[in-house]
Amino acid sequence: MSTDTLTITDHRTGKSYELPITDGSIKASDLRQIKLDPSDYGLLSYDPAFTNTASTRSAISYLDGDQGILLYRGYPIEQIAEKSTFLETAYLILNGELPTKAQLEAWKKEITFHTMVHENIKHLVDAFRHDAHPMGMFISAVASLSSFYPESAQINDAEIRDRQVTRLIAKVPTIAAYSYRHIMGWPYIYPDNDLSYAANFLNMMFKMAELKYKPDPVLERALDLLFILHADHEQNCSTNTMRAIGSAHADPYVALAGAAAALYGPLHGGANEAVVRMLAKIGSTKNIPAFLESVKRGEGKLMGFGHRVYKNFDPRGKIVKQLAYEVFEVTGRNPLLDVALELERIALEEDYFITRKLYPNVDFYSGLIYQAMKLPTKIFPVMFAIPRTVGWLAQWVELLNDPEQKIARPRQIYTGAPARDYVPLNKR
Ligand code: CMC
Repeated sequence: MSTDTLTITDHRTGKSYELPITDGSIKASDLRQIKLDPSDYGLLSYDPAFTNTASTRSAISYLDGDQGILLYRGYPIEQIAEKSTFLETAYLILNGELPTKAQLEAWKKEITFHTMVHENIKHLVDAFRHDAHPMGMFISAVASLSSFYPESAQINDAEIRDRQVTRLIAKVPTIAAYSYRHIMGWPYIYPDNDLSYAANFLNMMFKMAELKYKPDPVLERALDLLFILHADHEQNCSTNTMRAIGSAHADPYVALAGAAAALYGPLHGGANEAVVRMLAKIGSTKNIPAFLESVKRGEGKLMGFGHRVYKNFDPRGKIVKQLAYEVFEVTGRNPLLDVALELERIALEEDYFITRKLYPNVDFYSGLIYQAMKLPTKIFPVMFAIPRTVGWLAQWVELLNDPEQKIARPRQIYTGAPARDYVPLNKR
């Protein structure tokens, strides 16, 4: 008998079952054979919020939460952050291998070629109120691309699929910048093909009357690095949304709009915005103890702390903290940094946070950098969505190529009323 098995005894019936263990997991569908009688549906596994359920096999990114390890296609995030660029990282995440020089040049050219959006996108963004949240504009504009590229519905054609992947990665910075220019009341700026991905984004955000926008090289690199750190993170909430919508064979634009909507939430990519609002509300280091007491009483969360998988440290958080100091050399020190540093110091000594293994995550310091770059707080989740587009698309393609996948359709445990007869209105 193989030792890679799990024996389950059902004491309701006295029967025993052998379930194979593969890659440290059992198949939930193997539980279905465990029945009270032939008419029984079979045993379900109950896992609200999927805290202990693998929904896919994936070869894209790897996390070890206890060791604080993050790998993109096997490469440690620290090495990628130090040595790579965002577009090279995007190529790696999508294709599985680092590009050759020629492949990288071709890929950069391809992305640059697709950065323009249809003029009607401007009118769409114009339709929003001046104080609209940029994430609403971003999600709507991305979803609208589905109608500009109806061929995208052919999700089984690899060539057509690849074209939408390129289009999306190329166009999300343009859409994001339009949403910013709209709330500022400034004219939209077209992409500049001479600039890098990050520099062109800064150009579309900040160019005014000058003939040629020249980004500060430190800020250009900082933005590129932040994009690298946010590019993929295995089966998080928004990626799971991308896969769920994609599993119904919807086109990638509407699927990605759905993923971005999930990211918008303050427990996920909206946390960078929530952190800065929290730090501003605390205001001064002297208010930190009272704030932490309120968190411990359950009156709110310490935003930018905690992670479903990382239970030691978030390796991205370490890199972002270091980056913050480099950016502040150029922009001047963000006054909220002192509140953040002291908050982190005290929280890491408190029993509440130690016992729950709560550490700063990627979002704790990223907002301070964006703020120092003069970005308005409410655009921060969009800044997360731009690079995560790469991960969402890589995961979507992987899903479509995976013969084990089907339409995502979990089961439920029904807790409602038993079957009953309709009561006419005059009898209620
Ligand atoms: N502040 C205070 N308490 C917390 C926090 C926090 N930030 N995070 C978790 N806890 C407590 C939680 O209340 C629970 O306590 P108890 O056992 O007494 O009920 C315990 O820690 C375990 O937390 P959980 O809610 O079971 O953890 P989770 O895995 O479901 O949630 C999380 C993970 C990231 C949603 C959560 O830690 C959180 O809400 N953090 C703040 C929001 C945030 O920073 N999100 C960004 C995540 S990183 C970027 C990304 O990938 O999205």
